[in-house]
Amino acid sequence: MEELTLQMTGIVKEFPGVRALDGADFDLAPGEVHALLGINGAGKSTLIKVLSGVYQADAGRISLNGRDIKINSPQAALDHGIATVYQDPQMIGSFTGYENIFLGAESDSAGLFPRIRRRALRARASELLERFPVDIDLSRPVGELSAVEKESIAILRALSRENMSVLVLDEPTSILTRREIDVLFAQIRMLKERGISIIYITHRLDEVFEIADRLTVFRDGENVATCSTSDEGLDHARIAELMLDRELSNVYPPKGVAPGADVLSVRGLARAGGFDEVSFTAKRGWILGVFGLVGSGIDELCKTLFGVLGRTGGTTEINGRTVALKSPSDAIAAGLFLVPGDRRAEGQISDESVSFNVILSNMARVAGLGFLINRRAERRDAAAMVEELDIKTPDVAEDVSLLSGGNQQKVVIGKGLYTDCEVYVFQEPTVGVDVGAKAGIYEMIRKLSAEKAVIVVGSDCEEVYGLCDHAMVLHQGRVVMDKPASEVRLEQMLLSGLTGGEGQ
Ligand SMILES: Nc1ncnc2c1ncn2[C@@H]1O[C@H](COP(=O)(O)OP(=O)(O)OP(=O)(O)O)[C@@H](O)[C@H]1O
Ligand SMILES: [Mg+2]
Repeated sequence: MEELTLQMTGIVKEFPGVRALDGADFDLAPGEVHALLGINGAGKSTLIKVLSGVYQADAGRISLNGRDIKINSPQAALDHGIATVYQDPQMIGSFTGYENIFLGAESDSAGLFPRIRRRALRARASELLERFPVDIDLSRPVGELSAVEKESIAILRALSRENMSVLVLDEPTSILTRREIDVLFAQIRMLKERGISIIYITHRLDEVFEIADRLTVFRDGENVATCSTSDEGLDHARIAELMLDRELSNVYPPKGVAPGADVLSVRGLARAGGFDEVSFTAKRGWILGVFGLVGSGIDELCKTLFGVLGRTGGTTEINGRTVALKSPSDAIAAGLFLVPGDRRAEGQISDESVSFNVILSNMARVAGLGFLINRRAERRDAAAMVEELDIKTPDVAEDVSLLSGGNQQKVVIGKGLYTDCEVYVFQEPTVGVDVGAKAGIYEMIRKLSAEKAVIVVGSDCEEVYGLCDHAMVLHQGRVVMDKPASEVRLEQMLLSGLTGGEGQ
């Protein structure tokens, strides 16, 4: 048998109150793409942080090309040729793309970039861009870039490592557009040919079949299965079953029975460069689904509705009253709440406790005397939310940033549900959330829709279709489908979003 590139055995990692890894095993053959799967909090990111020197394991062995190694710092991992794109890439916002890519690579310059080096860096960067062709202006401070562009820079940074033999990608595509995913996959195939091994973490099962050779499923910090993606009988349902340890029944709750009263009415809404002439009505008891690919205008639509972006035309009425929503606080005061899609970029999560984040948007509910927050009420309400959304945390006082990615997303949802509004817009509600927890979130959204008007907006067609009672599709900023969901098939909706046509 060919020698393994990497072998991790019996890895244990404990945090206060959580055993994130409990004797985990994982290995990599030369030139293979090995997908690492598991529900939120299963220990995937922790394993790769042990591998990349961010955490020290409490027990276990790591061997690289047959030799036992110690990885006691991120630098040690890089020196061993292990490059990592983290789930939440850290970058210095005031530094340019170039600087962030080569940060730390030039240890002799101690992180400073004298003018003289810049030319050399630019030359290396343009060579990188030839291999990984994405359309980004690397001379801009990354703080000004979009989430997609930042993710691409994190990938470029990993690819810039010359001695790389293992590349780790922790949910790299959760915010990438299909175009960037294609570029990334092409790059992965090239790296494979050069014998580089890749660990690929994702919640998108179709990607696993598209790019991975083998897959491993983690549950509660342990390896429960490793198999080849070409194994017979292996499909999405089987993988979900391995992840959850139970059969996955229908993920989507039953559809609405009948539309109730009109709550939100939007006419001719427009934003130059984003979308034009968008009209719809959101009703109680009836979920409105808006599907569009990344770049179709759905992101601008959500932000304009919520008053984050200005509009160039159109009117909004809530419960029959015309409202001018010039800022998120206007929107909340008028009864409209947006649960945003990108928890990282939009600062929806602050470095505070889980309970504080949940109550953040509705302090009034737990206000005690004067302006003091009633801590007991905060704890009680947050604990109820943690229970209801099945948020995996040792305590509601835990710092949100210590939760796994998917559990952070659930906190964002919890925060939205805790407000008291008339209209709820959920944008990409389950980014980074595992299949089991998705069902719970869908159920809560459906439950909420009995009392409130609910709009679900996203680029995951199956999700929007599965949830909605009325289907709208946006393509290049225009509404190209607007029908009761019962008159539309999933394939039609998808095709309509892809091509702008109505689909047959
Ligand atoms: N620094 C930390 N301090 C305390 N607990 C932590 C820390 N990092 C991770 N955990 C906990 O360890 C467990 C595993 O987390 P991990 O981030 O590895 O999950 P994951 O499989 O990557 O999940 P996701 O799919 O949601 O990203 C979780 O319960 C998480 O809350
Ligand atoms: Mg993770």
